[in-house]
Amino acid sequence: MDKSEIQETKLTALLGWSLPAIEAIDKLNKPYVVVGPPDFQEFADKNGIQFVAWDFEQLNERSIELYEKLAALNTKVAVPIYEETVEWAGALNAHFNNDPRIFNRSLLLRDKGLMKRKAQMAGIRVGVFEEAYTKDDVYRFLKRMNEALIKMDGDVNDPIHVKPLNKAGTVGHRLIRDAQDIDLMGDTEFPCLMESHLDGQEFSCEAFIHNGKIQFLNITEYVQLGHSNFIPASPALEEWRPRIREEVQKLVDSFEIKYGVIHPEYFIAADGTLNFGEVAARVPGGHIFELIERAYGFSAFQAQILCSDPDTTEEELQAFFPEEVTSARGYAGSLMVYPKVKLIERLNVPEELKTNPYFEKHDMFIPVTSKVAERVGFGNHYGTIFFFGDDSEKMRSLLKQYEKYDFYL
Ligand SMILES: Nc1ncnc2c1ncn2[C@@H]1O[C@H](COP(=O)(O)OP(=O)(O)O)[C@@H](O)[C@H]1O
Ligand SMILES: [Mg+2]
Repeated sequence: MDKSEIQETKLTALLGWSLPAIEAIDKLNKPYVVVGPPDFQEFADKNGIQFVAWDFEQLNERSIELYEKLAALNTKVAVPIYEETVEWAGALNAHFNNDPRIFNRSLLLRDKGLMKRKAQMAGIRVGVFEEAYTKDDVYRFLKRMNEALIKMDGDVNDPIHVKPLNKAGTVGHRLIRDAQDIDLMGDTEFPCLMESHLDGQEFSCEAFIHNGKIQFLNITEYVQLGHSNFIPASPALEEWRPRIREEVQKLVDSFEIKYGVIHPEYFIAADGTLNFGEVAARVPGGHIFELIERAYGFSAFQAQILCSDPDTTEEELQAFFPEEVTSARGYAGSLMVYPKVKLIERLNVPEELKTNPYFEKHDMFIPVTSKVAERVGFGNHYGTIFFFGDDSEKMRSLLKQYEKYDFYL
């Protein structure tokens, strides 16, 4: 066997259960193992998927046990699919590569306080921020920040944001304007991160990194956070691509990110000033991977898997990725639908949506239980509508128009 054949007997471990990720790696003909909650064991067995059952709760001394299991299967790399598996991938890859620092780097991506500090030290523009351990910290932060903004008694405060150090999807996020808002905070919300408000249009990037280099940079335009976005971004935002690329590379360099996908969020002001929001290193939400595939014709899951593997060659990557922006076939957008009612009686999909040339498909459904689950962050939408077309402004207005629509009655 030559070197490449020897390599291909080693497994890639997908951390987290995701059918699109499994299909993607299957089509790549790469040997793999899925690590996921025990509930999926039966499905995996039935479908001949090599599976290791694992609960990704708090990372603990038992992580070595998972490493040993995977090492015994001849695994070489771990790919995180969900937020909770990012530090697990860090711990496992640290073992696989005999480089403990890989784990510490992954913690930067899991603790928003550490993340902001690291970014700030690298000269990346962030707001004012601090960790809060008690409500007093929040009162003081709000007061001092507004003093700095030269607000006087009676002026309206500039708001601050508080958020958990390690959650995603806006879970636990609060906008705070005055003392009463702070009074409402519960003891379990501490410690948390406090931040000044960042102005500007919010967007995300999906950067596929191999050997510390950006191989492909997608920019996703947020229309309404947690509800709708499209790919590629509109010409007005894409115009800033060279600046955005520089910022993403700065992030990659300072966070020492070598392999995989990152999903940073930024706020851009009218003059192009970029403020860094946060960065994740896993599959993004908002159906972004599906939209990338629709617009560019490559599987973003495969891209993530290929970029996570140090053995993937430069030639393979060049052949895999198309040209950014210019090779997009059109704009691909998604609208996540949240019922506005408490009890669902029926689905109401208007004819003019289905006949709109931008409409592609939807997967809204009548749920088994009619009671709508209480919403935590942007966790559980009840189906998605997919659009595709060649004009970003038409896309934007459609997404806005149908966000107001009551699909569930
Ligand atoms: N400092 C801030 N300024 C303006 N908007 C913010 C700020 N912090 C959070 N937000 C808003 O709240 C959303 C969720 O916050 P974020 O830090 O991205 O946490 P997560 O996505 O992990 O829940 C952001 O996408 C943004 O729209
Ligand atoms: Mg976010």
